[in-house]
Amino acid sequence: MTSSLNSVSSPSFKAVDWDGSSLILLDQTLLPGEEKYNAYSDAASIVDAIQRLVVRGAPAIGVAGAFGVVIAMDEAERLALPASQWDRLIDSIRDARPTAVNLAWAVERVRKFVPQGREAVLGEALKLAEEERLSASRMSAIGADWIYSRLGKKPLNLLTHCNTGSLATTGSGTALGVVKELHARGFVREVFADETRPLLQGSRLTAWELAKSGIPYRILADGAAAMAILGGKIDAALIGADRIARNGDTANKIGSLGVALACREAGIPFLVVAPESTVDRGIPDGGEIHIEMRADEELAFFRGIPVAPPGARAYNPAFDVTPARFISAVITDIKAYEVSKGEKL
Ligand code: MRU
Repeated sequence: MTSSLNSVSSPSFKAVDWDGSSLILLDQTLLPGEEKYNAYSDAASIVDAIQRLVVRGAPAIGVAGAFGVVIAMDEAERLALPASQWDRLIDSIRDARPTAVNLAWAVERVRKFVPQGREAVLGEALKLAEEERLSASRMSAIGADWIYSRLGKKPLNLLTHCNTGSLATTGSGTALGVVKELHARGFVREVFADETRPLLQGSRLTAWELAKSGIPYRILADGAAAMAILGGKIDAALIGADRIARNGDTANKIGSLGVALACREAGIPFLVVAPESTVDRGIPDGGEIHIEMRADEELAFFRGIPVAPPGARAYNPAFDVTPARFISAVITDIKAYEVSKGEKL
């Protein structure tokens, strides 16, 4: 399979950035209403930003965590903390969210440079951010070629879940990067963006990015996805990933599994797109993935307004695990793994 050069232009915003002394995050909790950047210079506020989803998406929280190690070093020096306390600050960033492997992976990769001093740590964080940016272009090309090879070169209706674009990465995105690449090549009719309850990463963030990229889209309630897929409205579904086990089982935003099941029933491709940094080769299958459980309030309230009776309890897993047998291929920045046929990562 030959990959064409990626022709997607860079976005006008950056989800994660470094200004020389602080971590800069685009506050995704405020989108699409407000485009506001915050500067972070202590570990506790970075942990809070990751947990409140100011920054979110597996590759983006990995990059934020990598810069967080520099911030933790600066903070420890500012407060004259003993070396043992540096580790505590760095651990708090690494453990801010449990499911996306990119966070712990990036923090531990950069932490190895601490004995060499701040500049070495910063250099590694910048290198990691750039690698993640470049990996997006490769994934996009490999994914677009995979789609061509199965569906041919024709205008496609593509369904996606959660947000997997430039807001979730330092590049064009994972699944949404493939969509942007197909659009740049002229082969997207329309994108169906699942709204992605309860925090609306689809309707707030994916729709915002698609509009900025000039890609035709419509949003749909998560509950409408199966009907759209079985009703023949969708040619292929593409999702990102937070952690992929060696056999291809994939943790991604809650609701991904339902999309996969509908695609299997309809006989259309269901693709997972993620960088190699999202693959956890330390686990054989998805049974070992720690799924983050989030607060009841995310379901019981909508922007502070109650949408359930007082005291209603909730079941609110942030992610689900789609078994490899329902995944047509896992596209990474190095290749397409045919996991439903038993290929291992
Ligand atoms: O809770 P979130 O918004 O961080 O969840 C993000 C997702 O599930 C994404 O689909 C995944 O991280 C891939 S992003 C390129």
